[in-house]
Amino acid sequence: MKFFIDTANLAQIQEAHDLGILDGVTTNPSLMAKEGIKGYDAVMQHYVNICNIVDGDVSAEVLGTTFDDIVREGEELAALSPKIVVKVPMIKEGIKAIRYFSQKGIKTNCTLVFSAGQAILAAKAGATYVSPFIGRIDDSGHDGLDLIEQMVQIYDNYSFQTQILAASVRNSLHIIKCAEIGADVITAPLDAIVALLNHPLTDNGLAKFLADAKKMS
Ligand code: E4P
Repeated sequence: MKFFIDTANLAQIQEAHDLGILDGVTTNPSLMAKEGIKGYDAVMQHYVNICNIVDGDVSAEVLGTTFDDIVREGEELAALSPKIVVKVPMIKEGIKAIRYFSQKGIKTNCTLVFSAGQAILAAKAGATYVSPFIGRIDDSGHDGLDLIEQMVQIYDNYSFQTQILAASVRNSLHIIKCAEIGADVITAPLDAIVALLNHPLTDNGLAKFLADAKKMS
């Protein structure tokens, strides 16, 4: 399972990269705004800065909602780096644009996916990645992981090549469950990834080993 970090914060991306387990980055307009990135040039430069840190795919979201705007923006984003994945919302015009990008060899991430039907359409259109938002489904009183299971089953049935990128991951349990179910990728905040390290028996065990190590010198 690939690990993407879900942030536009360069320090956090660098920290995850330095851990040696980072396979890519996802961003969205909210995450970019949180970093104070404003204006076309600054936005494009920020994506270049992210690409300069990571070795893998970097999702950059279009802001347009018509086919023409999505295609124009997506082509500009894709021209920044071969690492760029054009993130396109799950709307009718978005599906048409994903088909267009797929025929042009431009990678896509179909975002804001909340149902199996939407996931089927994204795969049929040829999306490289599809992003079901499991945390937001949980927030609405349903189990987001159920959708991941459904998608894994459906994509396996038809050998769809689209990779299931579990998004809106909120905690380390989400990550572990996605791995059990067979998601291809998770994208998570740094703290959810780092929390996978934690176990009190590891801390206690290390404290004891270090104490005993002093007796050896
Ligand atoms: C997906 O790529 C989105 O950037 C993200 O995972 C949304 O997460 P949120 O629901 O925590 O905003």
